[in-house]
Amino acid sequence: MRSLLECDVSHSTEGGCSKQNDSGPLPKGRPKAPSDLRVGTSRYLVLSVFGLALGSLGCTADESETEEPTIADATKLSERPCPEDSILSYENFGEPFLLSWCNGCHSSVLPEGERQGAPLGSDFDDLAMVREAGARIWARSADHNRQMPPLAGPEDEERTRLGEWLSCGAPSEVE
Ligand code: HEC
Repeated sequence: MRSLLECDVSHSTEGGCSKQNDSGPLPKGRPKAPSDLRVGTSRYLVLSVFGLALGSLGCTADESETEEPTIADATKLSERPCPEDSILSYENFGEPFLLSWCNGCHSSVLPEGERQGAPLGSDFDDLAMVREAGARIWARSADHNRQMPPLAGPEDEERTRLGEWLSCGAPSEVE
């Protein structure tokens, strides 16, 4: 972990913890820079101590978020945590879910004219296909993603289950 002193000092010279702020060196005319540069040594010390007490939150926040990702923070399937105690399987959840909500349009048995616009080849009627498309399915339908199906759709709890099952690798009981 980066020391706070380092963060504070570098903040006035080259941007320091500026990954969260603007990137790159501070431009000369940046509003915040002039007063920072005029700060005397003793005030620097105070700021640094203050930084040690509070600033470490800022410097470590990213790390702790990475260690414990939350469902709501996930922007893609690989960021979605799989609960260790999950009991969801293709048989007890995935297959019936997809049959109820997706396969009416996304099925390999449906010819072009009967898919209500679902792209040809975008089929989720067997486990291999579902796993292959897992990240895309998650991004449209699981957790906070509610684009599919196009109208109505499952309860939020069901979408959360879909996210759980997919994030755990779409397990099956017969493997
Ligand atoms: C009423 C028909 C219909 C239903 C039901 C439906 N879709 Fe779709 N789906 C579409 C159409 C039309 C498109 C193409 C337009 C678009 O991409 O938004 C599409 C596109 C997609 C795509 C993007 C193409 C791809 O394969 O990456 C995904 C993913 C998807 N749907 C997933 C789902 C999932 C998961 C469900 C069930 C929860 C579902 N859809 C239910 C009609 C449907």
